[in-house]
Amino acid sequence: MSMMPILQATSLHKSYLSGERHIEVLRGVDLVVAAGESVSIRGESGSGKSTLLNLLSGLDAPDSGELRWEGEASLTPVRRGRLLGLVFQAFYLVPELDAEANVLLAARLVGKVGEPERARARELLRRVGLAERAQHVPAKLSGGERQRVAIARALMNRPRLILADEPTGNLDEGSGDAIIDLLLSLGREEGCALVLVTHNAAHAARCARRLFLREGGFHAA
Ligand SMILES: Nc1ncnc2c1ncn2[C@@H]1O[C@H](COP(=O)(O)OP(=O)(O)OP(=O)(O)O)[C@@H](O)[C@H]1O
Ligand SMILES: [Mg+2]
Repeated sequence: MSMMPILQATSLHKSYLSGERHIEVLRGVDLVVAAGESVSIRGESGSGKSTLLNLLSGLDAPDSGELRWEGEASLTPVRRGRLLGLVFQAFYLVPELDAEANVLLAARLVGKVGEPERARARELLRRVGLAERAQHVPAKLSGGERQRVAIARALMNRPRLILADEPTGNLDEGSGDAIIDLLLSLGREEGCALVLVTHNAAHAARCARRLFLREGGFHAA
């Protein structure tokens, strides 16, 4: 296996202008994520966790600092779609599409969708316990089921890293625990690394490395 880190962030700075106020959210964040490892990030509301994940996913740019994904500084949408699986608190499923089509969207974004992709989408839905729900649209699924569809979609392209921003924030305790079990076990089976942003100390503790974001930088949790 390559020793190249999946993700390497160096001295990330990010500020926002909010009216007259200039908020320095990230003040020199460093993070290296190796292949297959799990890292949790906790921190108070407003500490910059989502801001950081947006930078790590290449969806937003830092004011300064460096990002490398498998050693490369550029991340096109197609490359992002292959390398990263993104899971958000708000699921972002397409309401008109059934569960299977939502999972297949990830594959559509990076290439052709044929029978192997359809088979993988069905297999992932089976693994997240939704084999019987593949033809249901999101409105007919519970919150926990929608999040499981979002996880299947994040795994569709066999990413090297999953970035999950409070994936259990909208769920009851039992469903939340089940989602974390899924993320960790699927990640292990697929050799995929995980960066998990969470407010839940027990969920954070299940990751091999635990970080705490405070005053714009990381502290060991
Ligand atoms: N687009 C934006 N424009 C201006 N300010 C922003 C923007 N996005 C975030 N902020 C501010 O940056 C700070 C960090 O926000 P962020 O969403 O990263 O926090 P968080 O740690 O994810 O919080 P939570 O736990 O509530 O999700 C907050 O003070 C927020 O108000
Ligand atoms: Mg947030």
